[in-house]
Amino acid sequence: MVKTTVSLIKADVGGYPGHASVHPDLIKVSENKLEAAKRDGVLKDFRVLAAGDDLELLMSHNRGVDDTKIHELAWKVFEKATEKAKELKLYGAGQDLLSDAFSGNIRGMGPGIAEMEFTERKGEPLVAFMMDKTEPGAFNLPIYKIFADPFNTAGLVIDPNCHGGFRFEVWDILEHKRVFMEAPEETYALLALIGAKSRYVIKRVFPRKNHPKLPPDEPVASVSTEKLFQIAGEYVGKDDPAALVRAQSGLPALGEVLEPFSFPHLVSGWMRGSHNGPIMPVGFKDSRCTRFDGPPRVIAAGFQVANSELVGPVDLFDDPAYDLAREKASAVAGYMRRHGPFEPHRLPMEDMEYTTLPKVLKILSSRFEKVE
Ligand code: F6R
Ligand code: MG
Ligand code: MG
Repeated sequence: MVKTTVSLIKADVGGYPGHASVHPDLIKVSENKLEAAKRDGVLKDFRVLAAGDDLELLMSHNRGVDDTKIHELAWKVFEKATEKAKELKLYGAGQDLLSDAFSGNIRGMGPGIAEMEFTERKGEPLVAFMMDKTEPGAFNLPIYKIFADPFNTAGLVIDPNCHGGFRFEVWDILEHKRVFMEAPEETYALLALIGAKSRYVIKRVFPRKNHPKLPPDEPVASVSTEKLFQIAGEYVGKDDPAALVRAQSGLPALGEVLEPFSFPHLVSGWMRGSHNGPIMPVGFKDSRCTRFDGPPRVIAAGFQVANSELVGPVDLFDDPAYDLAREKASAVAGYMRRHGPFEPHRLPMEDMEYTTLPKVLKILSSRFEKVE
């Protein structure tokens, strides 16, 4: 049976205005290029979405993950969109394209990638989450809750198909290492790592070997973990992440996948990539980062995948059920803002290393005197 691959590849190739949103022309340009790829049979289907100032290419195909042709296609789309962004003098045109030429794989070149290949079930619900003004570790808390927290996911308690738990692939993004951990047995050690979300990030989640319905080698969730600042060696913008999560029939239900976002947890990456703030779940039309360049936002696009085609999207957070989360996020944003330049609103010093702060410190350095 032919497997389906879903690739969500994103980049900020120019903001409008400032770092607030994506200009509609960039979406049009991208759609035209992807439509041509669909006609040529490279893609089965696609959607172009926008999260804050990030252009998000959601593509389905049968070519597997890390496919050169798909990655090159995404790169070319971003190049084309950059041309348009330059023409309109959009802000920071091409900012996430850190390389001049494509060389086989888009990883490490600036864009973020969440991809997975799987055997389609009879019904295949899929959610694409896209965040702006934050970092990949912002997905740790919700992904943990979805696949390992029985207070979030009732299925872990009352569906025998979920009882075996799930397998987490965690990356140390500083040392470029990874570890596989099993939940529920290793929950405490798993939390010891992923609670440190600026360093340890959940990359993928798999069914356990004993899952009665799903093969253990096909991911059920995948998160983009590219760290722009590490790639570039200096701060060139943030690494606003994206994630794909499958749902239902032995996996968490759609509502269990969305439930963690009713709590606007604190994430890093707000204003100048240098502040902590709450993540606000919003509908597509509200995915504009206005208040203090934020607050950080997340959108959720829901699909049924049918023979590698994308049926949807449903704009899942465009729903009064998330009004309270948005209100809470607004209130917490105000509370955090009252700290102004003070930690913990501003990030701790070690996380400021790749921002513009070291330049300020350099200017002061000659004025420091020794004290005994
Ligand atoms: C970009 C971001 C923004 C910018 C800020 C300053 O995604 O988070 O908060 O860091 O607007 O941008 P520059 O230095 O480009 O004026
Ligand atoms: Mg930007
Ligand atoms: Mg962004």
